[in-house]
Amino acid sequence: MKRERIHSAGPSITQLEIDTVTDAVTNGFYSHYRDYIEKFESAFAEYVGVKHAIATSSATTAMHLMVATADLGPGDEVIIPDLSWIATASVHTYAGAKPVFVDIEPDTWTMDPEKLKAAITPRTKAVMPVDLYGHAVDYDAIVPICREYGLTLISDSAPAVGTLLNGKSPARYADMAAYSFQGAKMMISGEGGMFVTDDDELFKRADQLVEDGRKPGTFWIEKIGYHYRMSNLTASLGYAQLQRVEELVAAKRQLFDWYHDRLGDIPGISMFKERPNCRANCSYPSIVLEGEFKTDRDGLRDELRNRKIDTRPIFPKMSQFPMFETVANPVTERIAETGINLPTAAYLDEEDVEDVCNEIKDILGV
Ligand SMILES: Cc1ncc(COP(=O)(O)O)c(C=O)c1O
Repeated sequence: MKRERIHSAGPSITQLEIDTVTDAVTNGFYSHYRDYIEKFESAFAEYVGVKHAIATSSATTAMHLMVATADLGPGDEVIIPDLSWIATASVHTYAGAKPVFVDIEPDTWTMDPEKLKAAITPRTKAVMPVDLYGHAVDYDAIVPICREYGLTLISDSAPAVGTLLNGKSPARYADMAAYSFQGAKMMISGEGGMFVTDDDELFKRADQLVEDGRKPGTFWIEKIGYHYRMSNLTASLGYAQLQRVEELVAAKRQLFDWYHDRLGDIPGISMFKERPNCRANCSYPSIVLEGEFKTDRDGLRDELRNRKIDTRPIFPKMSQFPMFETVANPVTERIAETGINLPTAAYLDEEDVEDVCNEIKDILGV
């Protein structure tokens, strides 16, 4: 292996990012203290094809902002997939609403529309599907269900910058959506997120809640809000990365193809299948071990770590955590117990992928 260590994730930073952040730290105060926030918000709204964007300190805060904007609270249920990062569940509990966990589709690991439909009760107020690992949710099926039952569709698109379904971003299907720019994501701002919506009224509400509930331009507080707006410095890095986002998506898709060429045909190893009409951003190349190998998922991860290759397990099933009631969701259980996210650091080239795949084959005995 030509590298001392292969990291599981990390960004691509060029002179453009360095120059832009340098400009923000040099000039981004006084009359210019919001310049990069405004530029980033309007460029991101344009990129995902909606009218409004609000830059936030993380996707988690953008998601809580969606929950607050939708006015969810005690007595309300929100249907979510059981496989995701905990923020997908915790933001509802912040508001006193109840997350209801449903199973995922076996190929794309996103919310199963049939399971969603079966979980709707008179208390259901909203649905939060997740474009997990950059795979688009089946919005063609989920949007009509939300319309039929009058449910607000708030999308956790945290990992899905650059993902498209029928040529449109997830944000175009949802009432509100949230994206993440945390350091392992498709494009990064350090920590950071974006709330997006096409709806003028929802935007107006969120725009007030994100800045402490104050009357715009004043210190007069009209309702209890949150201190969730992204800083100008952080926005400068996000704004620079956004200039390169299509290049970054192409690089991740190439990385995924390199892995697929080497591992995709091995019996007992499966990789996710792209939904028809979807451009997954492929930000996380994942494999699921379903065959008989020399070791299991955790054994493979441990031995890869010994060989200086970092990986991540697929997220655990959320409903098994102690604060929730465990729900039997067999597809989630299977993927969560057998899945690994392979290294996706931006510096990886084809030779690195070849090295990682050779080590995987050696450890598994294939
Ligand atoms: C599916 C999903 N939702 C939400 C988040 C939270 O994003 P952030 O770290 O920007 O709050 C993540 C981050 O990993 C995620 O993967």
